[in-house]
Amino acid sequence: MCGIVGFIGDHQAAPILLDGLSKLEYRGYDSAGLAVRNGTDPAEVVKTVGRLKNLAEKTDDGKALPGCCGIGHTRWATHGEPSQVNAHPHVSGNCTGSGSGKVESEVVGVHNGIIENYKELKEKLIRNGYTFYSDTDTEVIIKLVDYYYKKYIQDPIDAIMKTMVRVRGSYAIELMFKDHPGEIWAARKGSPMIIGVSDGETYIASDVPAILKYTRKVYYIGDLQCAKITAGDVHFYDLNGDEVTIEPTEIKWDAESAEKGGYEHFMIKEIHEQPKAVEDTLASVIKDGAIDLSECGLSDEQIKDISAITIVACGSAWHVGMTLQYAIEDLTRLPVRVELASEFRYRNPILDPRSLVIVISQSGETADTLEALRLAKSHGIKTLAIVNVVGSTIAREADNVFYTLAGPEIAVATTKAYSAQLAAGYTIAVHFGFVRGTIDREQYDAYIADLNTIPAKIQKILEDKERLQWFAAKFAHIRDAFFIGRGIDYSTCLEGSLKMKEISYIHSEAYAAGELKHGTISLIEDQTLVIGVLTQNKLYEKTVSNMVECKSRGAYLMGIASYGKYEVEDHCNFVTYVPSIDPHFSASLAVVPLQLLGYYISIARGLDADKPRNLAKSVTVE
Ligand code: AGP
Repeated sequence: MCGIVGFIGDHQAAPILLDGLSKLEYRGYDSAGLAVRNGTDPAEVVKTVGRLKNLAEKTDDGKALPGCCGIGHTRWATHGEPSQVNAHPHVSGNCTGSGSGKVESEVVGVHNGIIENYKELKEKLIRNGYTFYSDTDTEVIIKLVDYYYKKYIQDPIDAIMKTMVRVRGSYAIELMFKDHPGEIWAARKGSPMIIGVSDGETYIASDVPAILKYTRKVYYIGDLQCAKITAGDVHFYDLNGDEVTIEPTEIKWDAESAEKGGYEHFMIKEIHEQPKAVEDTLASVIKDGAIDLSECGLSDEQIKDISAITIVACGSAWHVGMTLQYAIEDLTRLPVRVELASEFRYRNPILDPRSLVIVISQSGETADTLEALRLAKSHGIKTLAIVNVVGSTIAREADNVFYTLAGPEIAVATTKAYSAQLAAGYTIAVHFGFVRGTIDREQYDAYIADLNTIPAKIQKILEDKERLQWFAAKFAHIRDAFFIGRGIDYSTCLEGSLKMKEISYIHSEAYAAGELKHGTISLIEDQTLVIGVLTQNKLYEKTVSNMVECKSRGAYLMGIASYGKYEVEDHCNFVTYVPSIDPHFSASLAVVPLQLLGYYISIARGLDADKPRNLAKSVTVE
């Protein structure tokens, strides 16, 4: 997820572009750049690595870049590490050194999205004489526009249409053509883009916050549409190149809620971004019905040679490991051990030389997880990192990396990154099982088909959130809660309990349901909230009986069950249902009501769900 902006009008563009990008840094912030044209002069490009302030300093807050027509970008790397050369804007010609300076190329542009078939397109362009200077998919799409522009009638709209037909994936692109000064061209599919117009000036952005200061009159360009933008005017075209009419929308949001996409907090926004985060992560490795982990760097021979797996992480990432343990063991018959990084690094672990250590980290900077990775490497063990931040320390030091595509996660309490990590881990389990021959083709296809249903099933759960909001308000006053389950349901309880604790400050415990009677059940009193996760059919009845044991001691029971298990209501005071799915993957669904419960209790208690007390988004200290 990145942020793009554009401006054309009667004012200097660069300061306006920088201002807009500053409102979009929540969409990405590992590098940034501008391309600005002064009249008919070629565009001048300036790019920097790191936060946006570096770009502002390099351009004297934009004042050093003359011109009233320009585009800008703040990056969240998905293809190609954060670097000056990978930063946007990108150009259709060659690019030397830092990539800044006057653009001699025909086309310069910025992009937000993921081009799924960028590799094949890059090979096609290389066969047609193009050379590449970056590792990005964006450079491919811009050179493809240039290819069609030169091959056909030198018309931007025709080149863009042909490109849109050829490209698979998601994009919101802005382009400037050397031969067409005073114009910005835009196109989108799947990634957000709006176009705002005010007196004689036109603004383009990924999201409302970037232009709200200048205009509330915006056009939402549709999927597979393109736009020709000039000062104070915009024309839209469909895939056939025919002009289409879009009615403007009046934005009612204030600036702050606009940055959260109209949601009250980043956390609830990111909970709702989970279908896309999971879909993008799955799509990054599932191609034409098969899982391709080649980008992660593990060969089939290496996978066949693995003797055991150790998963090491902290916090919610450790909960992901606890969940994946079941799926990976079941599908690969490899022994899987899950370790807390802060314990593993001091335990002098016994590691089989042919084992694989998988570290999981959203930030890629967690100190304990990083040291655990280094310890594994010091033992000569192969390592694989599942990480959300491209180019982070853990990503750079691991032997192999599986990048989740959740985009920047702003809320301290993880949700979409957690779900994306689960999705990544499931594909590893299925792929390893198939390569090692512990699952057959029919099972492989069935698992992949089930994985692809997760985004829509999460979306369906989100449509029922009002019931959870009502329930949360009833229980916002409680002082403690218990989450109980068995197997994968127990690992889901671990995450649900942490969500409750870290954002609502209510003490809670996740307990293996069968363990309660060994002591902890003495804590159950009248109206103690006990939440039972009941998605594992083989263990379901046992957990229900454990819940009933709690009820007989006064507990108030909430159940999370799969559709169809309606008999749960005979025992529970409140039940929320999730769609059915292969039991290996059910944690991805059962966790959503628990995320919502934690969030709604937090706001019912008047707390800041995004910035809970005592916590940091990334624990880079021991
Ligand atoms: C989860 O909501 C917390 N923010 C925390 O437990 C987090 O999962 C943990 O600190 C690990 O962070 P990482 O994934 O960035 O390594």
